[in-house]
Amino acid sequence: MFDRQKKGERAVLVLPHSRADGDAERRAEEFVELARSAGVEVLDRVSARVESPSPRFYIGSGKADEVAESVLANEADVVLVDHILTPVQERNLERHLKVRVVDRAGLILDIFAQRARSHEGKLEVELAQLKHLATRLVRGWTHLERQRGGSVGLRGPGETQLETDRRLLGVRVKALTQRLEKVGTQRQQQRRARLRNTVPRVALVGYTNAGKSTLFNAITTGGVYAADQLFATLDPTVRRIEDLSCGPAVIADTVGFIRELPHDLVAAFRATLSEARDADLLLHVSDAADEERDRLRSVVDSVLEEIGAGDVPQLRVMNKIDMTGAEPRLDRNVDGSPREVWLSAASGEGLDLLRQALGERLGGHRVQAELDLPLSAGRLHARLTALRAITGERVDEDGWHLSIDAPYSVLAPLAGESRGEEARVLHTLIAPESDDEW
Ligand code: GTP
Repeated sequence: MFDRQKKGERAVLVLPHSRADGDAERRAEEFVELARSAGVEVLDRVSARVESPSPRFYIGSGKADEVAESVLANEADVVLVDHILTPVQERNLERHLKVRVVDRAGLILDIFAQRARSHEGKLEVELAQLKHLATRLVRGWTHLERQRGGSVGLRGPGETQLETDRRLLGVRVKALTQRLEKVGTQRQQQRRARLRNTVPRVALVGYTNAGKSTLFNAITTGGVYAADQLFATLDPTVRRIEDLSCGPAVIADTVGFIRELPHDLVAAFRATLSEARDADLLLHVSDAADEERDRLRSVVDSVLEEIGAGDVPQLRVMNKIDMTGAEPRLDRNVDGSPREVWLSAASGEGLDLLRQALGERLGGHRVQAELDLPLSAGRLHARLTALRAITGERVDEDGWHLSIDAPYSVLAPLAGESRGEEARVLHTLIAPESDDEW
């Protein structure tokens, strides 16, 4: 159903801004990046001062003429507007410019459609696209000659849906919603099962393009897709990190944060961020080379707050120090615990400090679990007793049934010194069954 076209589309960008937008240039850069992420070739940018939006075009009609000239001169086949347009404004602009017009919501949806990987992520994105299209279907598309091939803003549910009527669309939306509810319930159940896992969980969060995927790759061994594109990751990927002083941990990469997410996309975004909510520690990655890094970090923090992850402890990472010339370093809180690591995920400088900081922060993570030990594992029982890790105990013919409560850093080294049955039992305590379990 997903229609992809290798050949990039040729776009003119319209960048509305008002006096209230202090950071017009930054917004413009971000929108250009978004457009490139969608595989679009940017031919021209037209800035438009919009103090009071016109109901007809959103931008003024003089500006609309200027955009029309640029479209003609550059032989563009799409116009991308960095604002949410009403369906009427979009249609009026399309008539006036004689090319397709895609607003900010449509563009972000398009990128999400291209990037969604998990079943749930795909369903969420398709649902969001259908809702977005539904408001635009009433107009019909007769005023534009239909373009062939995958076109930005039209990918995902695709052209077939455009040709169906709103009733069919409603049916599809309903079916998708039901499937999503079911997937959501399944996720809840899985999560409950996973809570029994005692391995500490780390989630990478950060503003889009901060370098999360690159860092994820650098501290795990596998190759997760990292690209100089916004939203390179839509769905979390989970891996293990083995070489920490505290014992293994699992780490999840999450989708990049961005301002002004289209409203319908918040649910899709949230679904991918549940890992952040359930984590023991968040690695909050910032681009040290970005002048706006402090403000972007607050944007991320407030979104975390909104999705209920505001209380999860954070370790900050200042990434890309190779671009700023800063030295790798580990800053600490007054109590001595690691607070912020300065590193370069690309060059690898400072990664050792990150491992050290993770080891220290996660070492304090407490394992609280029930553990069944066979009577043959007497040595391990003695070790756990010596470590004061046992808070409750019952013994019968099957062996010991123990309640364990101890810092992870105390328990994890036991795995290294145990063999045979003891090692197997310990494995259930400190190593999840599967790497992709969260
Ligand atoms: P989203 O998936 O959009 O949220 O992005 P992300 O935060 O996962 O960023 P990603 O890892 O895809 O990196 C974004 C860009 O920054 C890529 O071009 C990386 O090569 C680059 N990058 C990441 N880390 C570093 C670094 O330490 N130094 C430099 N110079 N570039 C880096």
